[in-house]
Amino acid sequence: TNLGAAELPLMLCSASNISAARMQLCSDIPMQSRTVSVVGAGLAALFLYFAMTFLRPLVSLYGNLRRARAIGLPMKVVPFPPGPFSFFTFQILRRFSLLKPGTMLHQSLNMGRPDGYGHHKEMGDAFVTVSPAGLTLIVANPKVATHVNSKRAEFPKPPNTVVLINIYGRNVINTDGDTWRLHRRVTGQAFSERLHRAMWQEGVNQARFMMESWLTSNERNPDRLRVSELERDALHLALNVITGAAYGYPLRWNEDPQCASPTGLSYRAAVVQFTAHLMPIFLTPRWLLRLARKDSTRGRAWEAYTAFESYMRGMLDRQRARLGAAQCTDENLLTVLIRSEDQDEKASKKMTAKEVMGNTFIFLFAGHETTANTLHYSLLLLAQRQDVQQRFLNEVDDIVEKAAQEGRCELDYDLDFNRARWALAIMSETLRMFTPTGITNKWTATDQPITFDGCTYMIPQGTRISISGMAVHYNPKVWGGNAAEWEPSRWIIQEGGGGALMRSRPNGKSENDAY
Ligand code: HEM
Repeated sequence: TNLGAAELPLMLCSASNISAARMQLCSDIPMQSRTVSVVGAGLAALFLYFAMTFLRPLVSLYGNLRRARAIGLPMKVVPFPPGPFSFFTFQILRRFSLLKPGTMLHQSLNMGRPDGYGHHKEMGDAFVTVSPAGLTLIVANPKVATHVNSKRAEFPKPPNTVVLINIYGRNVINTDGDTWRLHRRVTGQAFSERLHRAMWQEGVNQARFMMESWLTSNERNPDRLRVSELERDALHLALNVITGAAYGYPLRWNEDPQCASPTGLSYRAAVVQFTAHLMPIFLTPRWLLRLARKDSTRGRAWEAYTAFESYMRGMLDRQRARLGAAQCTDENLLTVLIRSEDQDEKASKKMTAKEVMGNTFIFLFAGHETTANTLHYSLLLLAQRQDVQQRFLNEVDDIVEKAAQEGRCELDYDLDFNRARWALAIMSETLRMFTPTGITNKWTATDQPITFDGCTYMIPQGTRISISGMAVHYNPKVWGGNAAEWEPSRWIIQEGGGGALMRSRPNGKSENDAY
């Protein structure tokens, strides 16, 4: 009432200010509360996310524990499931010396990896590991191993196998189902008696080359033969034998096969460098390998990868050209692969160029190191056991003598191979103790029963099965108390006029005679 005219606009002004302020206040209150509620919701979501992240594994573990308990076999809870994760973590930590043997971490990551009979002493011949990621049945029993390995549809390869060995293309090792059947059918054609004969002949040739190389480096004094690089030479021999017999490309000792594009690495150097850089090749995308510095680990991995590919392509090109020539009678792994790409009419029966390369790679890779290591180890073991060496030499002398009586100065696969019983016993015993493929992994496509020690157990769908070849091979119930000793005589039933007789299974006292 006391306001003057001059004050009116001010009042109006302030009234409008007030209303503006009120309006601002009105709009401020919901804004803040909205901010508060947004922050609250965010926090709740974060909490939920972390709760889920930490709880989900626990919930999974709980579910897996229940599934494992229902099986009825002994079980062990582990933080990481045996399989690719444990394998690669184990390799990486060990590479950086961060993994001490005997620690809990070492044991957990090593569970389900080849480790003799160690784990089974405590857990029995079949037990289940349980982790948040799933169940793994670990087997040291030969009957269960035979059952699982013989039923491919019921126990296929685990789902992630494809990623692991898909280096140059899909192949017989990393496929399943119809694709595997196609690859198996095609490659299987090469593995005939004809190939065995070729392997024998190439083995004889390469052994002669190797012996010559040893004699040259020993100034031709066979009485004082000193072999300094047995491992390298065994690899060299195995690679040349497979290349000559299975790939139809006979090589002299230091010869390289034709190469599709020039490389600084010899054939053997490419294979050795490839094997030494297997982890970076497995784990690094190709484009990253290509960009790596030449003198770095990845650079060398890329060099080996491209060199190996170039040799394989060179061999394939040469074989394709030979097949095109008239009267070509070549029959080997490359010919069946090339025909399956070029000739089969139906697409479903054809292999792609990548699959041909994938199989060309996998047979060389799966075949040469396994064979070389067995040869290398058996020679080392023979050097330590003069008694076995003497029996072996007696057998060789007998075989050569018989061949001479039959009017031959060369040994022959069809006539002489089966007489070499001690040789086979030595190989079998070396493979038993130092098997190159200590574990094979399978998977249950549906719920599967297994029978073990007179009881049947239902293994739920989606269980990984690790057949521990090493554990089967060191199982004292199968092999007796001397399972950890190299004793080739365990394979021999009797020796006599007709040579030694071999048993098809070991002389353990166990009921587990399926092996
Ligand atoms: C001492 C020698 C060898 C041993 C101990 C050995 C051992 C094995 C084992 C245990 C498997 C089964 C792997 C699994 O199912 O996960 C296998 C598969 C295979 N091996 Fe060998 N191997 C030897 C030599 C060779 C040779 C000389 C070749 C080829 C020239 C070869 C080619 C293959 C292939 C292609 C497969 C996959 C078969 C398939 O899945 O159908 N291996 N080997």
